[in-house]
Formats: sequence, C-alpha cells, structure tokens
Amino acid sequence: MTRKIKMLVIAGARPNFMKVAPLIKSMRARNEQEQQSAGKIDYRLVHTGQHYDGQMSDIFFGELGIPHPDINLGVGSGSHAVQTAHVMMRFEPVCEVEKPRWIVVVGDVNSTLACTLVASKMGIRVAHVEAGLRSFDRTMPEEINRIVTDSLADLLLTPSEDANENLKREGVADSKIEMVGNVMIDALVSNLQKSRASALSEQLGLARNGFIYVTLHRPSNVDDKQSLSAIMEELRRLAGELPVVFPMHPRTRKRCEQFGILHHDGNRLRVLDPIGYNDSLFLTENARLVLTDSGGLQEESTYFRTPCLTLRPNTERPVTLTLGSNKLTRLERLADDIAEVLNREPRFGQLPPLWDGRAADRMIDAMLRR
Ligand code: UD1
Repeated sequence: MTRKIKMLVIAGARPNFMKVAPLIKSMRARNEQEQQSAGKIDYRLVHTGQHYDGQMSDIFFGELGIPHPDINLGVGSGSHAVQTAHVMMRFEPVCEVEKPRWIVVVGDVNSTLACTLVASKMGIRVAHVEAGLRSFDRTMPEEINRIVTDSLADLLLTPSEDANENLKREGVADSKIEMVGNVMIDALVSNLQKSRASALSEQLGLARNGFIYVTLHRPSNVDDKQSLSAIMEELRRLAGELPVVFPMHPRTRKRCEQFGILHHDGNRLRVLDPIGYNDSLFLTENARLVLTDSGGLQEESTYFRTPCLTLRPNTERPVTLTLGSNKLTRLERLADDIAEVLNREPRFGQLPPLWDGRAADRMIDAMLRR
C-alpha cells in the first residue's frame, strides 16, 4: 500500500479561496484514481479566519465547491503584527497534532506569511503557490509577505517567467522552482458557465460593454482621506458617462464612513456590498472597463481581454501589462487614461502561457514528485 502524504492547505482571506479550490479539486481527483490505496494525499483544509464575513468568506466556499474547513483558527482582524501573531499562535498546535509532511500556502496575505514561519521552524515543508511575484514596493504589506514566504519555502510554484527570474535573482536554487501556471485561471475556467448565468446584469440593468466595474481596497488608495475623496469624486464624474458598479470592500466602506465621504450617488454610481465570485467574473467579462487595485482582477481582466486600469504605481503581475489588457494609472492621470480606453477597441491582449486551467494538476504533480 502507498504511504499517504499528509498536507495542510491554508486559506485565510478572500483572494486565497479561488486558489485553494482548484488544488483541492485536483487532490480529490488524484485520490479517486488511487482507489486501491484509498487515496495518496491526506489533506486537511485550514481556514485562518483572517476574513470571516459571509460575503468575504462563506459565499466563496459555496460557489467554488470548497469543502467546509477541517480547522478554523478564527483569528479575525487586527493590526499586521496582531493578526500575524494570532495565526502563528493558533497554527503551531495544529501542526503539532497533525504532523503534516507539507503545508501549502497561497498568495501573499498575512496568513500566508504566518503559517510559513510556523511550519518552516518546525521542519515541515512549505509549498508556495503563486511564488516569485514582486512589485518591488516594500510599502505594500503583501510585498513583505511574498519576500519572506519565498525565502523560506521549499517548493516555489510560479505562475509566469518573470516570477522565475525574480526568484533566481534573489538566489533561490533552480531545483526549488517549478513554473506551473496560474491557478486563478483554473478556478475561472471551471466557473464560467455559472458566472454567465449571473442575475446581476438584470438586477442592475447593465448592458454588455455598457458599464465600468470598480474594486478598490488597498491601504495606499483608501486609507488616506485626500486620496479616497479624490477617487470617489472621479467615480461620480465618470458615472455621468457610464454606469459605475462598485462592490465595496469593508475596509473601503469603513474609511468612507470614518472620513465622512459620500459613497453613493443616485443610481449611476452603484455602491454594493462585496459580491461573490461568479458575479465578479460576470462583471469582469462584460464591463467596458475594469478599474481596480486588486491583483486577481488584473489577471481575470487579462483572461477576458477586458481593458483594465490598475490604480497603483506598480504591479507584481507584469505579464498582464506586457501581454494582457492591463495598464497602470494614477489619480492625476485617471480621467485621461479612462478617456483613452473608452476610445479604443473594447477587447484586446493575449493570454499568457500556461494560463490554461491545468495549473493545479501541475502543482500536485510537483509536490508528489518530491
Ligand atoms: C487582505 C490582504 C490583501 C488582500 C485583501 C483582499 C493582507 C496583508 N492583506 O487585505 O492582500 O488583497 O485581503 O480582501 O493580508 N473586514 C471585515 N470583514 C472581513 C474581513 C475584514 O469587515 O471578513 C474589515 C475589517 O474591518 C478589517 C479590514 O476589513 O480591519 C481589513 O481586513 P484585513 O484582513 O486586515 O485586510 P484586507 O484589507 O482585507
């Protein structure tokens, strides 16, 4: 009988859920093929609880078919140090009991960093999904999380060539790096049918190519009163041209309320509560333009060839600029950049290599080979 490999798969915050879903699906399929030994991979799903609201967490489990977490650390919100420390304190005893051979962490959130620190000090191997991405901007908490996670991980599963180059430049051994493609696209491809059945366009009266989809939540955009006021003012102006749909992250809503900024304006600037995965894919596929500071939406726009303006000075996903439909923008240039996009063809760009919906299978292969 084959010896089972025990893995803990970690998910903490919203952008993690669409990355763990394809991994778990691939592990399940692998186990079903191995009937004689009743499965090769003994995995447990650990939710750190970094995101906890129904609309930030539960809805994604339902839509993406992710099993109920085996363990929930229930850490909730806090400063970076508090949140990271709470995950570490609660994850260490889980590792002591479960004794996994591997932990699998995804993305760049505080939970990714915290679990990596715990596991690597306990001699447990760490596989990092979406390794090697760099914005070269250490004012972003995610950049710190990426650098530390990658320097400790044993297996670096990268989505694109630029990520391999970044890791090699930082001195990571070739033998630890495997370019496997973009796991976000696996989730996207398997949910297309459901997203195309979204009722959102009817509810909001939206026409294809007839609206702008906005998501903004980065501290650099929303934690500063002046910047957030200017953004909301620009969105109100824009809504005079085309309807704007803005599902608002709790961080952004909290800041609008704290700064006394009006965040809705009649029925052309539609500020909604956070929406689920399928509705978000639907909006990305059908928008005339996506305006965002999210990492995932830059990639999803590239997949759909929908023009995307990223309100950030840099991106850790340069392939969305070179091959895809993404362009960086800043507040002072935003109105001009929007006008330029609205004047060009409504779809452009190419799909980067290995964004083919099979990345999770390649990741599991890479882990099993070791
Ligand atoms: C985190 C990630 C970020 C990711 C984002 C996606 C880090 C450092 N940041 O940022 O990379 O792009 O998730 O959403 O890990 N809140 C709720 N309900 C929730 C979760 C949070 O109301 O379910 C509110 C709380 O007021 C909290 C604030 O949102 O203080 C921010 O949450 P937090 O997890 O600290 O960071 P995000 O901004 O969500």
